[in-house]
Amino acid sequence: MLQCTAALAAVLAAMVTAAVAGPLASSKRGLVFTPNETTPADDTIWVTKPTDLTWYYNYQGSPASPFSNIPQSQFEFVPMLWGAPSSLDDTTFLTTVKSLVKDKGINITHVLTFNEPDGTYANGGSNIQPSAAAQVWVNNIVPLQTMGIRVGLPACTGGSTGIPWLQSFLSQCSKLVSTGGRTQNCTYDFLTIHWYGNFEGLASHMGEYSAAFPNKTMWITEYNVDNQDLATTQTFYNTSADYFDRLDIVERYSYFGAFRSDVSNVGPNGAMLSSDGSLTDIGAWYLGRQATGVKRTQGSLGFRSVIPQGTTAALTAVLAIVLLL
Ligand SMILES: *[C@@H]1O[C@H](CO)[C@@H](O)[C@H](O)[C@H]1NC(C)=O
Ligand SMILES: *[C@@H]1O[C@H](CO)[C@@H](O)[C@H](O)[C@H]1NC(C)=O
Ligand SMILES: *[C@@H]1O[C@H](CO)[C@@H](O)[C@H](O)[C@H]1NC(C)=O
Ligand SMILES: *[C@@H]1O[C@H](CO)[C@@H](O)[C@H](O)[C@H]1NC(C)=O
Ligand SMILES: *[C@@H]1O[C@H](CO)[C@@H](O)[C@H](O)[C@H]1NC(C)=O
Repeated sequence: MLQCTAALAAVLAAMVTAAVAGPLASSKRGLVFTPNETTPADDTIWVTKPTDLTWYYNYQGSPASPFSNIPQSQFEFVPMLWGAPSSLDDTTFLTTVKSLVKDKGINITHVLTFNEPDGTYANGGSNIQPSAAAQVWVNNIVPLQTMGIRVGLPACTGGSTGIPWLQSFLSQCSKLVSTGGRTQNCTYDFLTIHWYGNFEGLASHMGEYSAAFPNKTMWITEYNVDNQDLATTQTFYNTSADYFDRLDIVERYSYFGAFRSDVSNVGPNGAMLSSDGSLTDIGAWYLGRQATGVKRTQGSLGFRSVIPQGTTAALTAVLAIVLLL
């Protein structure tokens, strides 16, 4: 009897642990939208119910056309100033965002800035000198702040160049806004973080940002453990999602990425879609749903279409009742 009870306790403990690590719905989750013109049907997956994604960005200043009719209150578009325009005096980004608000009545409340400015173009970075970025910021971002829009500090790479780049940027920026002998600082509302690597590295990277820029909340706008096996990738996904959900300092996060496994640049297991555009387990968990069992190379004629949504949950519930009896 004692042994039996101990075994049952172990099973229940395992179930509780799985539930904690599980894909509970989260209002912090958003979409990094990376459309592929040859697979436009994939675009609507992220906004088809049930989904718990509340916001998205597309590395651009204007909304993505598949989502342009969805109200901000349902799926918030967050414009991004990706890089430096060829002329540092260019205010196209400012004009674009102002026009979204004033002409189109789109309630823009947050803006993201500079995608990996400390990274090379070849690696997807926007490769900007801190001094140039500071000038572009003063011309385009400061006026948006006066409109009450909350802004993120630039989104550096996960490498060691990020924090020094940001410190240099802030110091140059503050020089530009300090006029007439009056010292002023460029301000921002939250940190924007990218990370590719394991969970311990991610947690430590977030700790370094907190130490360098105290008392600021964070958005983790690109992250994954890249090029790992499925078990490692799923464990990383569960652990990091649980961590972000529990930490008040994390305002929002967006997993990279929302694309098919055969065109993934973070390895096939990190993609949220299989090679034919079906949600993988991670893809489904990210939307707050049950696992699909879809393999990364599996198509729509696989497990997903045979077993209707909710069956897995029902089976789990039955199993739990059987164990308790
Ligand atoms: C991740 O969480 C899901 C949902 O609770 C669970 O089914 C799965 O076993 C977990 N995977 C890992 C590797 O922890
Ligand atoms: C778009 O998807 C198709 C089909 O998966 C693929 O062949 C192509 O390389 C993708 N294009 C990009 C830019 O990822
Ligand atoms: C815009 O959105 C914010 C945040 O959701 C809300 O507080 C504010 O009332 C909205 N403004 C308008 C004009 O809808
Ligand atoms: C500007 O920031 C520096 C460094 O964080 C700080 O020491 C200084 O007090 C700030 N100045 C103003 C006017 O806020
Ligand atoms: C951070 O916030 C805490 C608590 O609100 C406060 O005591 C502390 O002075 C703040 N630190 C800085 C550097 O602003």
